[in-house]
Amino acid sequence: CSKSTPAADDATAPLKVGFAQTGAESAWRTANTNSLRNEAAKRGIDLKFADGQSKQENQIRAVRSFIAQDVDAIVIAPIVETGWDPVLREAQRANIPVIIMDRSVQTEDESLYVAFIGSDFYEEGRMAADWLAAHAGGRTKIVELQGEPGSAAANERRKAFADAIAKHPEFKIIDSQTGNFRRAEGKTVMEAMLKTHGNDIEIVYAHNDDMALGAIQAIEEAGKTPGKDILIVSIDAIKEAVQAVADGRINCTVECNPLFGPKIYDTIEQVLAGQPVEKKMYNQDELFDATNAAAALPSRQY
Ligand code: AHR
Repeated sequence: CSKSTPAADDATAPLKVGFAQTGAESAWRTANTNSLRNEAAKRGIDLKFADGQSKQENQIRAVRSFIAQDVDAIVIAPIVETGWDPVLREAQRANIPVIIMDRSVQTEDESLYVAFIGSDFYEEGRMAADWLAAHAGGRTKIVELQGEPGSAAANERRKAFADAIAKHPEFKIIDSQTGNFRRAEGKTVMEAMLKTHGNDIEIVYAHNDDMALGAIQAIEEAGKTPGKDILIVSIDAIKEAVQAVADGRINCTVECNPLFGPKIYDTIEQVLAGQPVEKKMYNQDELFDATNAAAALPSRQY
């Protein structure tokens, strides 16, 4: 991509970055938005923020508007994996580098974006399943709360978990439905599952902490004790969930770090300076359970 740095055009012009965010579906997402906003403010970057309100067409419209405004770079957190090639091609034709953040895209042409920065969702799902295989204590019947349909986060966390538990034939996923990464929907879906399956449910695997926290409310309202009557395994490690692990209401949460701000702008600055960057950059994520949650709490940043 041959876009020149803003400094080459005007030494005083701030860097203009367009950011097409998914929406505000979870506490994780809010932390992610704040990270990009705060770091932009620190660096004097002119950040143009668009809330996609969980609709890909809104994100595509936002990217087109960033192109029309001739921004220096575009960051997309894609709601779903597919359907991006036409708008990515438009950005490429305008010589505007695109960074794909958090959720990956499926594309026929990898040159349409300069870098992906995010977590390895498959690895997160595998870590959750492996933890369960070691700690289920004879419980075997699982219900799954899936994230937004079509998102890389839901697709990969689902596949990894299914692949890993397939090695342990005693486990069975007795129901799997989407709660769209939202707390209220996690609660509603869990209420319905408790009605349908009653005491059969022994384990909840939630694709994110917000849905796990919603499910916990439903479990408590049904007179059961989350963490004991029903094991809860989740992903994100937002502070509230790590606290719930320390309190014994969630059994394990796998980290998915949302604090990308510094890495995103470092990468954009390198790209605009003509320096090479790695195509795919993954965060290192940890797992929190009863052994380490309490000690980790004071330093959790989100
Ligand atoms: O794409 C990352 C996922 O999106 C997070 O796990 C979830 O909380 C968020 O909404």
